[in-house]
Amino acid sequence: MCGIVGYVGKKTAQDVLVGGLRRLEYRGYDSAGIATLDDNNEAHIARSVGKIAELANVLDGAPQTGHLGIGHTRWATHGGVTETNAHPHHVKNIYMVHNGIIENYKELKAELSDKGYEFASDTDTEVLAALIDSNYTDGVTLKDAVAKALKRVRGTYGIAVFSPKEPGTLIVARLGSPLIIGLGQGETIIASDASALLGYTREAIYLNDGELAVCNKDGAEVFTLGLKHLDSKPETIEGDLAQIQKGGYDYFLLKEIMEQATTLHNTLSGRIDPKAGKMHLGGPNLTEKEMRDIRHVVIVGCGTAYYAGLLASYYMEQLVPDLTTEVVIASEYRYRSFHLPKNSVALIVSQSGETADTLACLREIKKRGVKTLGIVNVVGSTIAREVDGGTYVHAGPEISVASTKAFTAQVVAMLMFAGMLSEYHGGDPKLVAEFTRELSILPEEIEKNLETHRATMEALAKKYSKYDHALYLGRDTAFPISLEGALKLKEISYIHSEGYASGELKHGPIALVDDRFFEVFNILDNWLFDKSCGGLHEVRARGGKTIVLTDSKADIEADDIVRIESPIKHLAPILLNTLQQLFAYYIAVDRGNDVDQPRNLAKSVTVE
Ligand code: AGP
Repeated sequence: MCGIVGYVGKKTAQDVLVGGLRRLEYRGYDSAGIATLDDNNEAHIARSVGKIAELANVLDGAPQTGHLGIGHTRWATHGGVTETNAHPHHVKNIYMVHNGIIENYKELKAELSDKGYEFASDTDTEVLAALIDSNYTDGVTLKDAVAKALKRVRGTYGIAVFSPKEPGTLIVARLGSPLIIGLGQGETIIASDASALLGYTREAIYLNDGELAVCNKDGAEVFTLGLKHLDSKPETIEGDLAQIQKGGYDYFLLKEIMEQATTLHNTLSGRIDPKAGKMHLGGPNLTEKEMRDIRHVVIVGCGTAYYAGLLASYYMEQLVPDLTTEVVIASEYRYRSFHLPKNSVALIVSQSGETADTLACLREIKKRGVKTLGIVNVVGSTIAREVDGGTYVHAGPEISVASTKAFTAQVVAMLMFAGMLSEYHGGDPKLVAEFTRELSILPEEIEKNLETHRATMEALAKKYSKYDHALYLGRDTAFPISLEGALKLKEISYIHSEGYASGELKHGPIALVDDRFFEVFNILDNWLFDKSCGGLHEVRARGGKTIVLTDSKADIEADDIVRIESPIKHLAPILLNTLQQLFAYYIAVDRGNDVDQPRNLAKSVTVE
């Protein structure tokens, strides 16, 4: 997620801004910048691609002396990783930084272009700055101009704005992207998270969604967007820096598990229309003819990305009747003498966008003249730059080595591609509408599910954390998440765990069942329910210790059962998988492991 810092007070703003941005580096970013207003009311902007150190180098050559300013670390969403797209953005009298996604920026951009505004960047932020400027006419205060503009915005924002026309004033506002106002002695510091405020103050106003504040060196006044004054009480910032950067959680992994409902809103933003029952991805760069001509999809990935592709392939087959799909492990596929039929498209799935095996596959596939589409989280990554098109999954920085929120976002992104393809291939519009409606409630269903079952999964983890072997079993769309559940467990708890199609039990794995093992069964309330329970009975008949994760209300015999209550059916595997994520997390914690940096593993495997 991007980072925001703002300052107004007696210190040199540049020092506070750069220091604050360094505190936010952990969030991941690809460019950074600051803008300040000097004592002659001259504004100065410095921006750079890359790390804060690059920005500091720029500032060494042109130090900024003002006592008011804003700073930003950008995690690119709209527009590539370039200096032009880096924040702060400047449009006429407005200097601004922004976190979030403006869904209707294209229509606003067209309207503002008609008014004569020109845009240097590809960002939605520059459009919002222009919209504010267009309201900021004589007699209108900056606060009013910002409020008026934000009423027209659809999407999410956390913004900080200043103008040479109102020196000493910072306007901040939030909707879906956190903003905190630190109240110092004769100075005010704003930030997207409290870690940037430590050292200046522990007294802060936490803005709520739909609120705006006018900040100066003496403090802040908070308003609704309707400019009704609010009597917001300051709170005390608790915790040390490490705890704050993890959002108050003990590890980034739990933070990323718990925030996936929020980040999924960004993945879905502007891409589904539940009323019309349609999905639309902007990025595939395929013509209508190319979409219509696709007959084969190969999905490439490693680890969790591969399992996300496997789950997505089931949905793709359901939604696109005349398509064949294959899902391949990149490290194998890159060396095979593979042939792809005419009219194939390759989905290249990677959170980091840097995985060597996946990148090698991309290059091998491109040699064969096959269109490649990226399903990537890190904007501007190597895979994202080398594919022919694709879509960013917008899961935000995933710090913990074990991938969780990115898995969910990758599945959803590929599902939206399938939903879009369906229209060109005579797919069932009612089925697309069902999936679209499920996607529209998926974030809150994930949130509800996590909150409801978090304590249960922690208790279960304590009960099973001493085992050294586990089998994860599922059928149909519960099979890919059984593979993923086993991977999550093995990579952070170091328990030997294998995922299997539950129909395979009798072809060998059932010989393993004894008191060294526990078995996790993912059982879906679908047409294969009885079959899925068959495997469970086979294991129980041999004394297996069984945990069932299910969306079924039916009686099921097991040592432990966790039932999810949700109207979601097709996407129930995603909900069950969030339980597996919690289970693996709590077992790893119980075993005293380094949950975020498990032994032998790296977040991005850039070597073979
Ligand atoms: C997942 O938890 C693991 N960290 C690992 O399997 C990972 O999914 C794999 O290395 C692929 O990484 P990528 O998505 O960045 O390409």
